[in-house]
Amino acid sequence: MSAHNDDRRPDEVDLSDPKLSRFDVYREGLRRDGIEIIHYEPRYAKPGTKVEKRMERIVASLFLGSGLFATLFVVAYIWWPWKYDGAATWRDPQTWYTPILGITLGLSLLLIALAVLTWAKKLLPVEELVQERHDGGSSRDDRRFAESTVDTVVDDMGLKRRPFLVKAALLGAAPLGLAAVAPLGGLIKDPGDMLTVTGWNAEKHNGGEPVRLMLKDGALVRPEMVATAGQITVFPAIEGGASNEFASAPTLLIRLRATDAEILRENLYPMYQDVEAMWGDFVAYSKICTHVGCPASLYEQQTQRLLCPCHQSQFNVIDNAAPIFGPATRHLPMLPLGVDEEGYFYAKSDFLVPPGPAFWNRPSLPEEDEQ
Ligand code: FES
Repeated sequence: MSAHNDDRRPDEVDLSDPKLSRFDVYREGLRRDGIEIIHYEPRYAKPGTKVEKRMERIVASLFLGSGLFATLFVVAYIWWPWKYDGAATWRDPQTWYTPILGITLGLSLLLIALAVLTWAKKLLPVEELVQERHDGGSSRDDRRFAESTVDTVVDDMGLKRRPFLVKAALLGAAPLGLAAVAPLGGLIKDPGDMLTVTGWNAEKHNGGEPVRLMLKDGALVRPEMVATAGQITVFPAIEGGASNEFASAPTLLIRLRATDAEILRENLYPMYQDVEAMWGDFVAYSKICTHVGCPASLYEQQTQRLLCPCHQSQFNVIDNAAPIFGPATRHLPMLPLGVDEEGYFYAKSDFLVPPGPAFWNRPSLPEEDEQ
């Protein structure tokens, strides 16, 4: 580290010499810090040449292009249709919502990176330095060196000489900053009952008629369709019930062995006992993992565990699907089951507990807290 003025070595430049230019101080500062300037020359011998101006216009265009794409990102984020109304094809605008967000933000970041790189490569002076590393705090001289270094860099960048470029950079960066904070707007919106009501809700989605269980192809589900110790994925038998519109509804219908079903009946949480949530040896659990929402559908009939492949959470099938391993902390909600007079399964009600990961205003669950 450099010494204070009093400790100056004979070969050091006297910084109080008024004849020293800023560049002299800059170079001396580097030298005392063990950095030698091997080569230094302005990128353009004469400032303001046509070539330099052209390069400035290119950099400015890149900044402005970045700002344009960031603006398009914000516009698309707010106004582009994104809600699914049943299955969508590639012609439907909502199919393009996510790609458009990705493309506009990606291009904006790419252009601003190109702008900064081009500025550095084509407008800054050509400089080659060799630096030695050392330890220590900063002396008064060092601080002065730092100041002159910053001033020199600002001068080299031409921030004062190139106000047009600075304005273009700000114009480009401002919408990009907006693009970074715009998605926070999604947190302001009231989600309504989106997180608590699923496609199994008869009042909301089936005119008050109980919602039957169906397979992905629309076939209604009867008990004899599931073998003992077998399981199938079921969806609410309503329009679009197996589509993304009802992404929180997929449910695993399991037919337990009689002995396992007996154990589960004894373990049932009171809220499930009250509504007789099981039907015979059948039980239905939400398929949406309560960790971060992957499908928890690997059923191990020997150990009576449901496994989530994403982060290895495991749920005990014969104990209300309570979490017993991994990061999930809440049980998989049970769908109360019944069989109607025509022999088809139906949901006696929606899930008693919101399915999927926890959220900030999720109703509290005394049954879980007691576990
Ligand atoms: Fe299931 Fe993480 S989403 S364990």
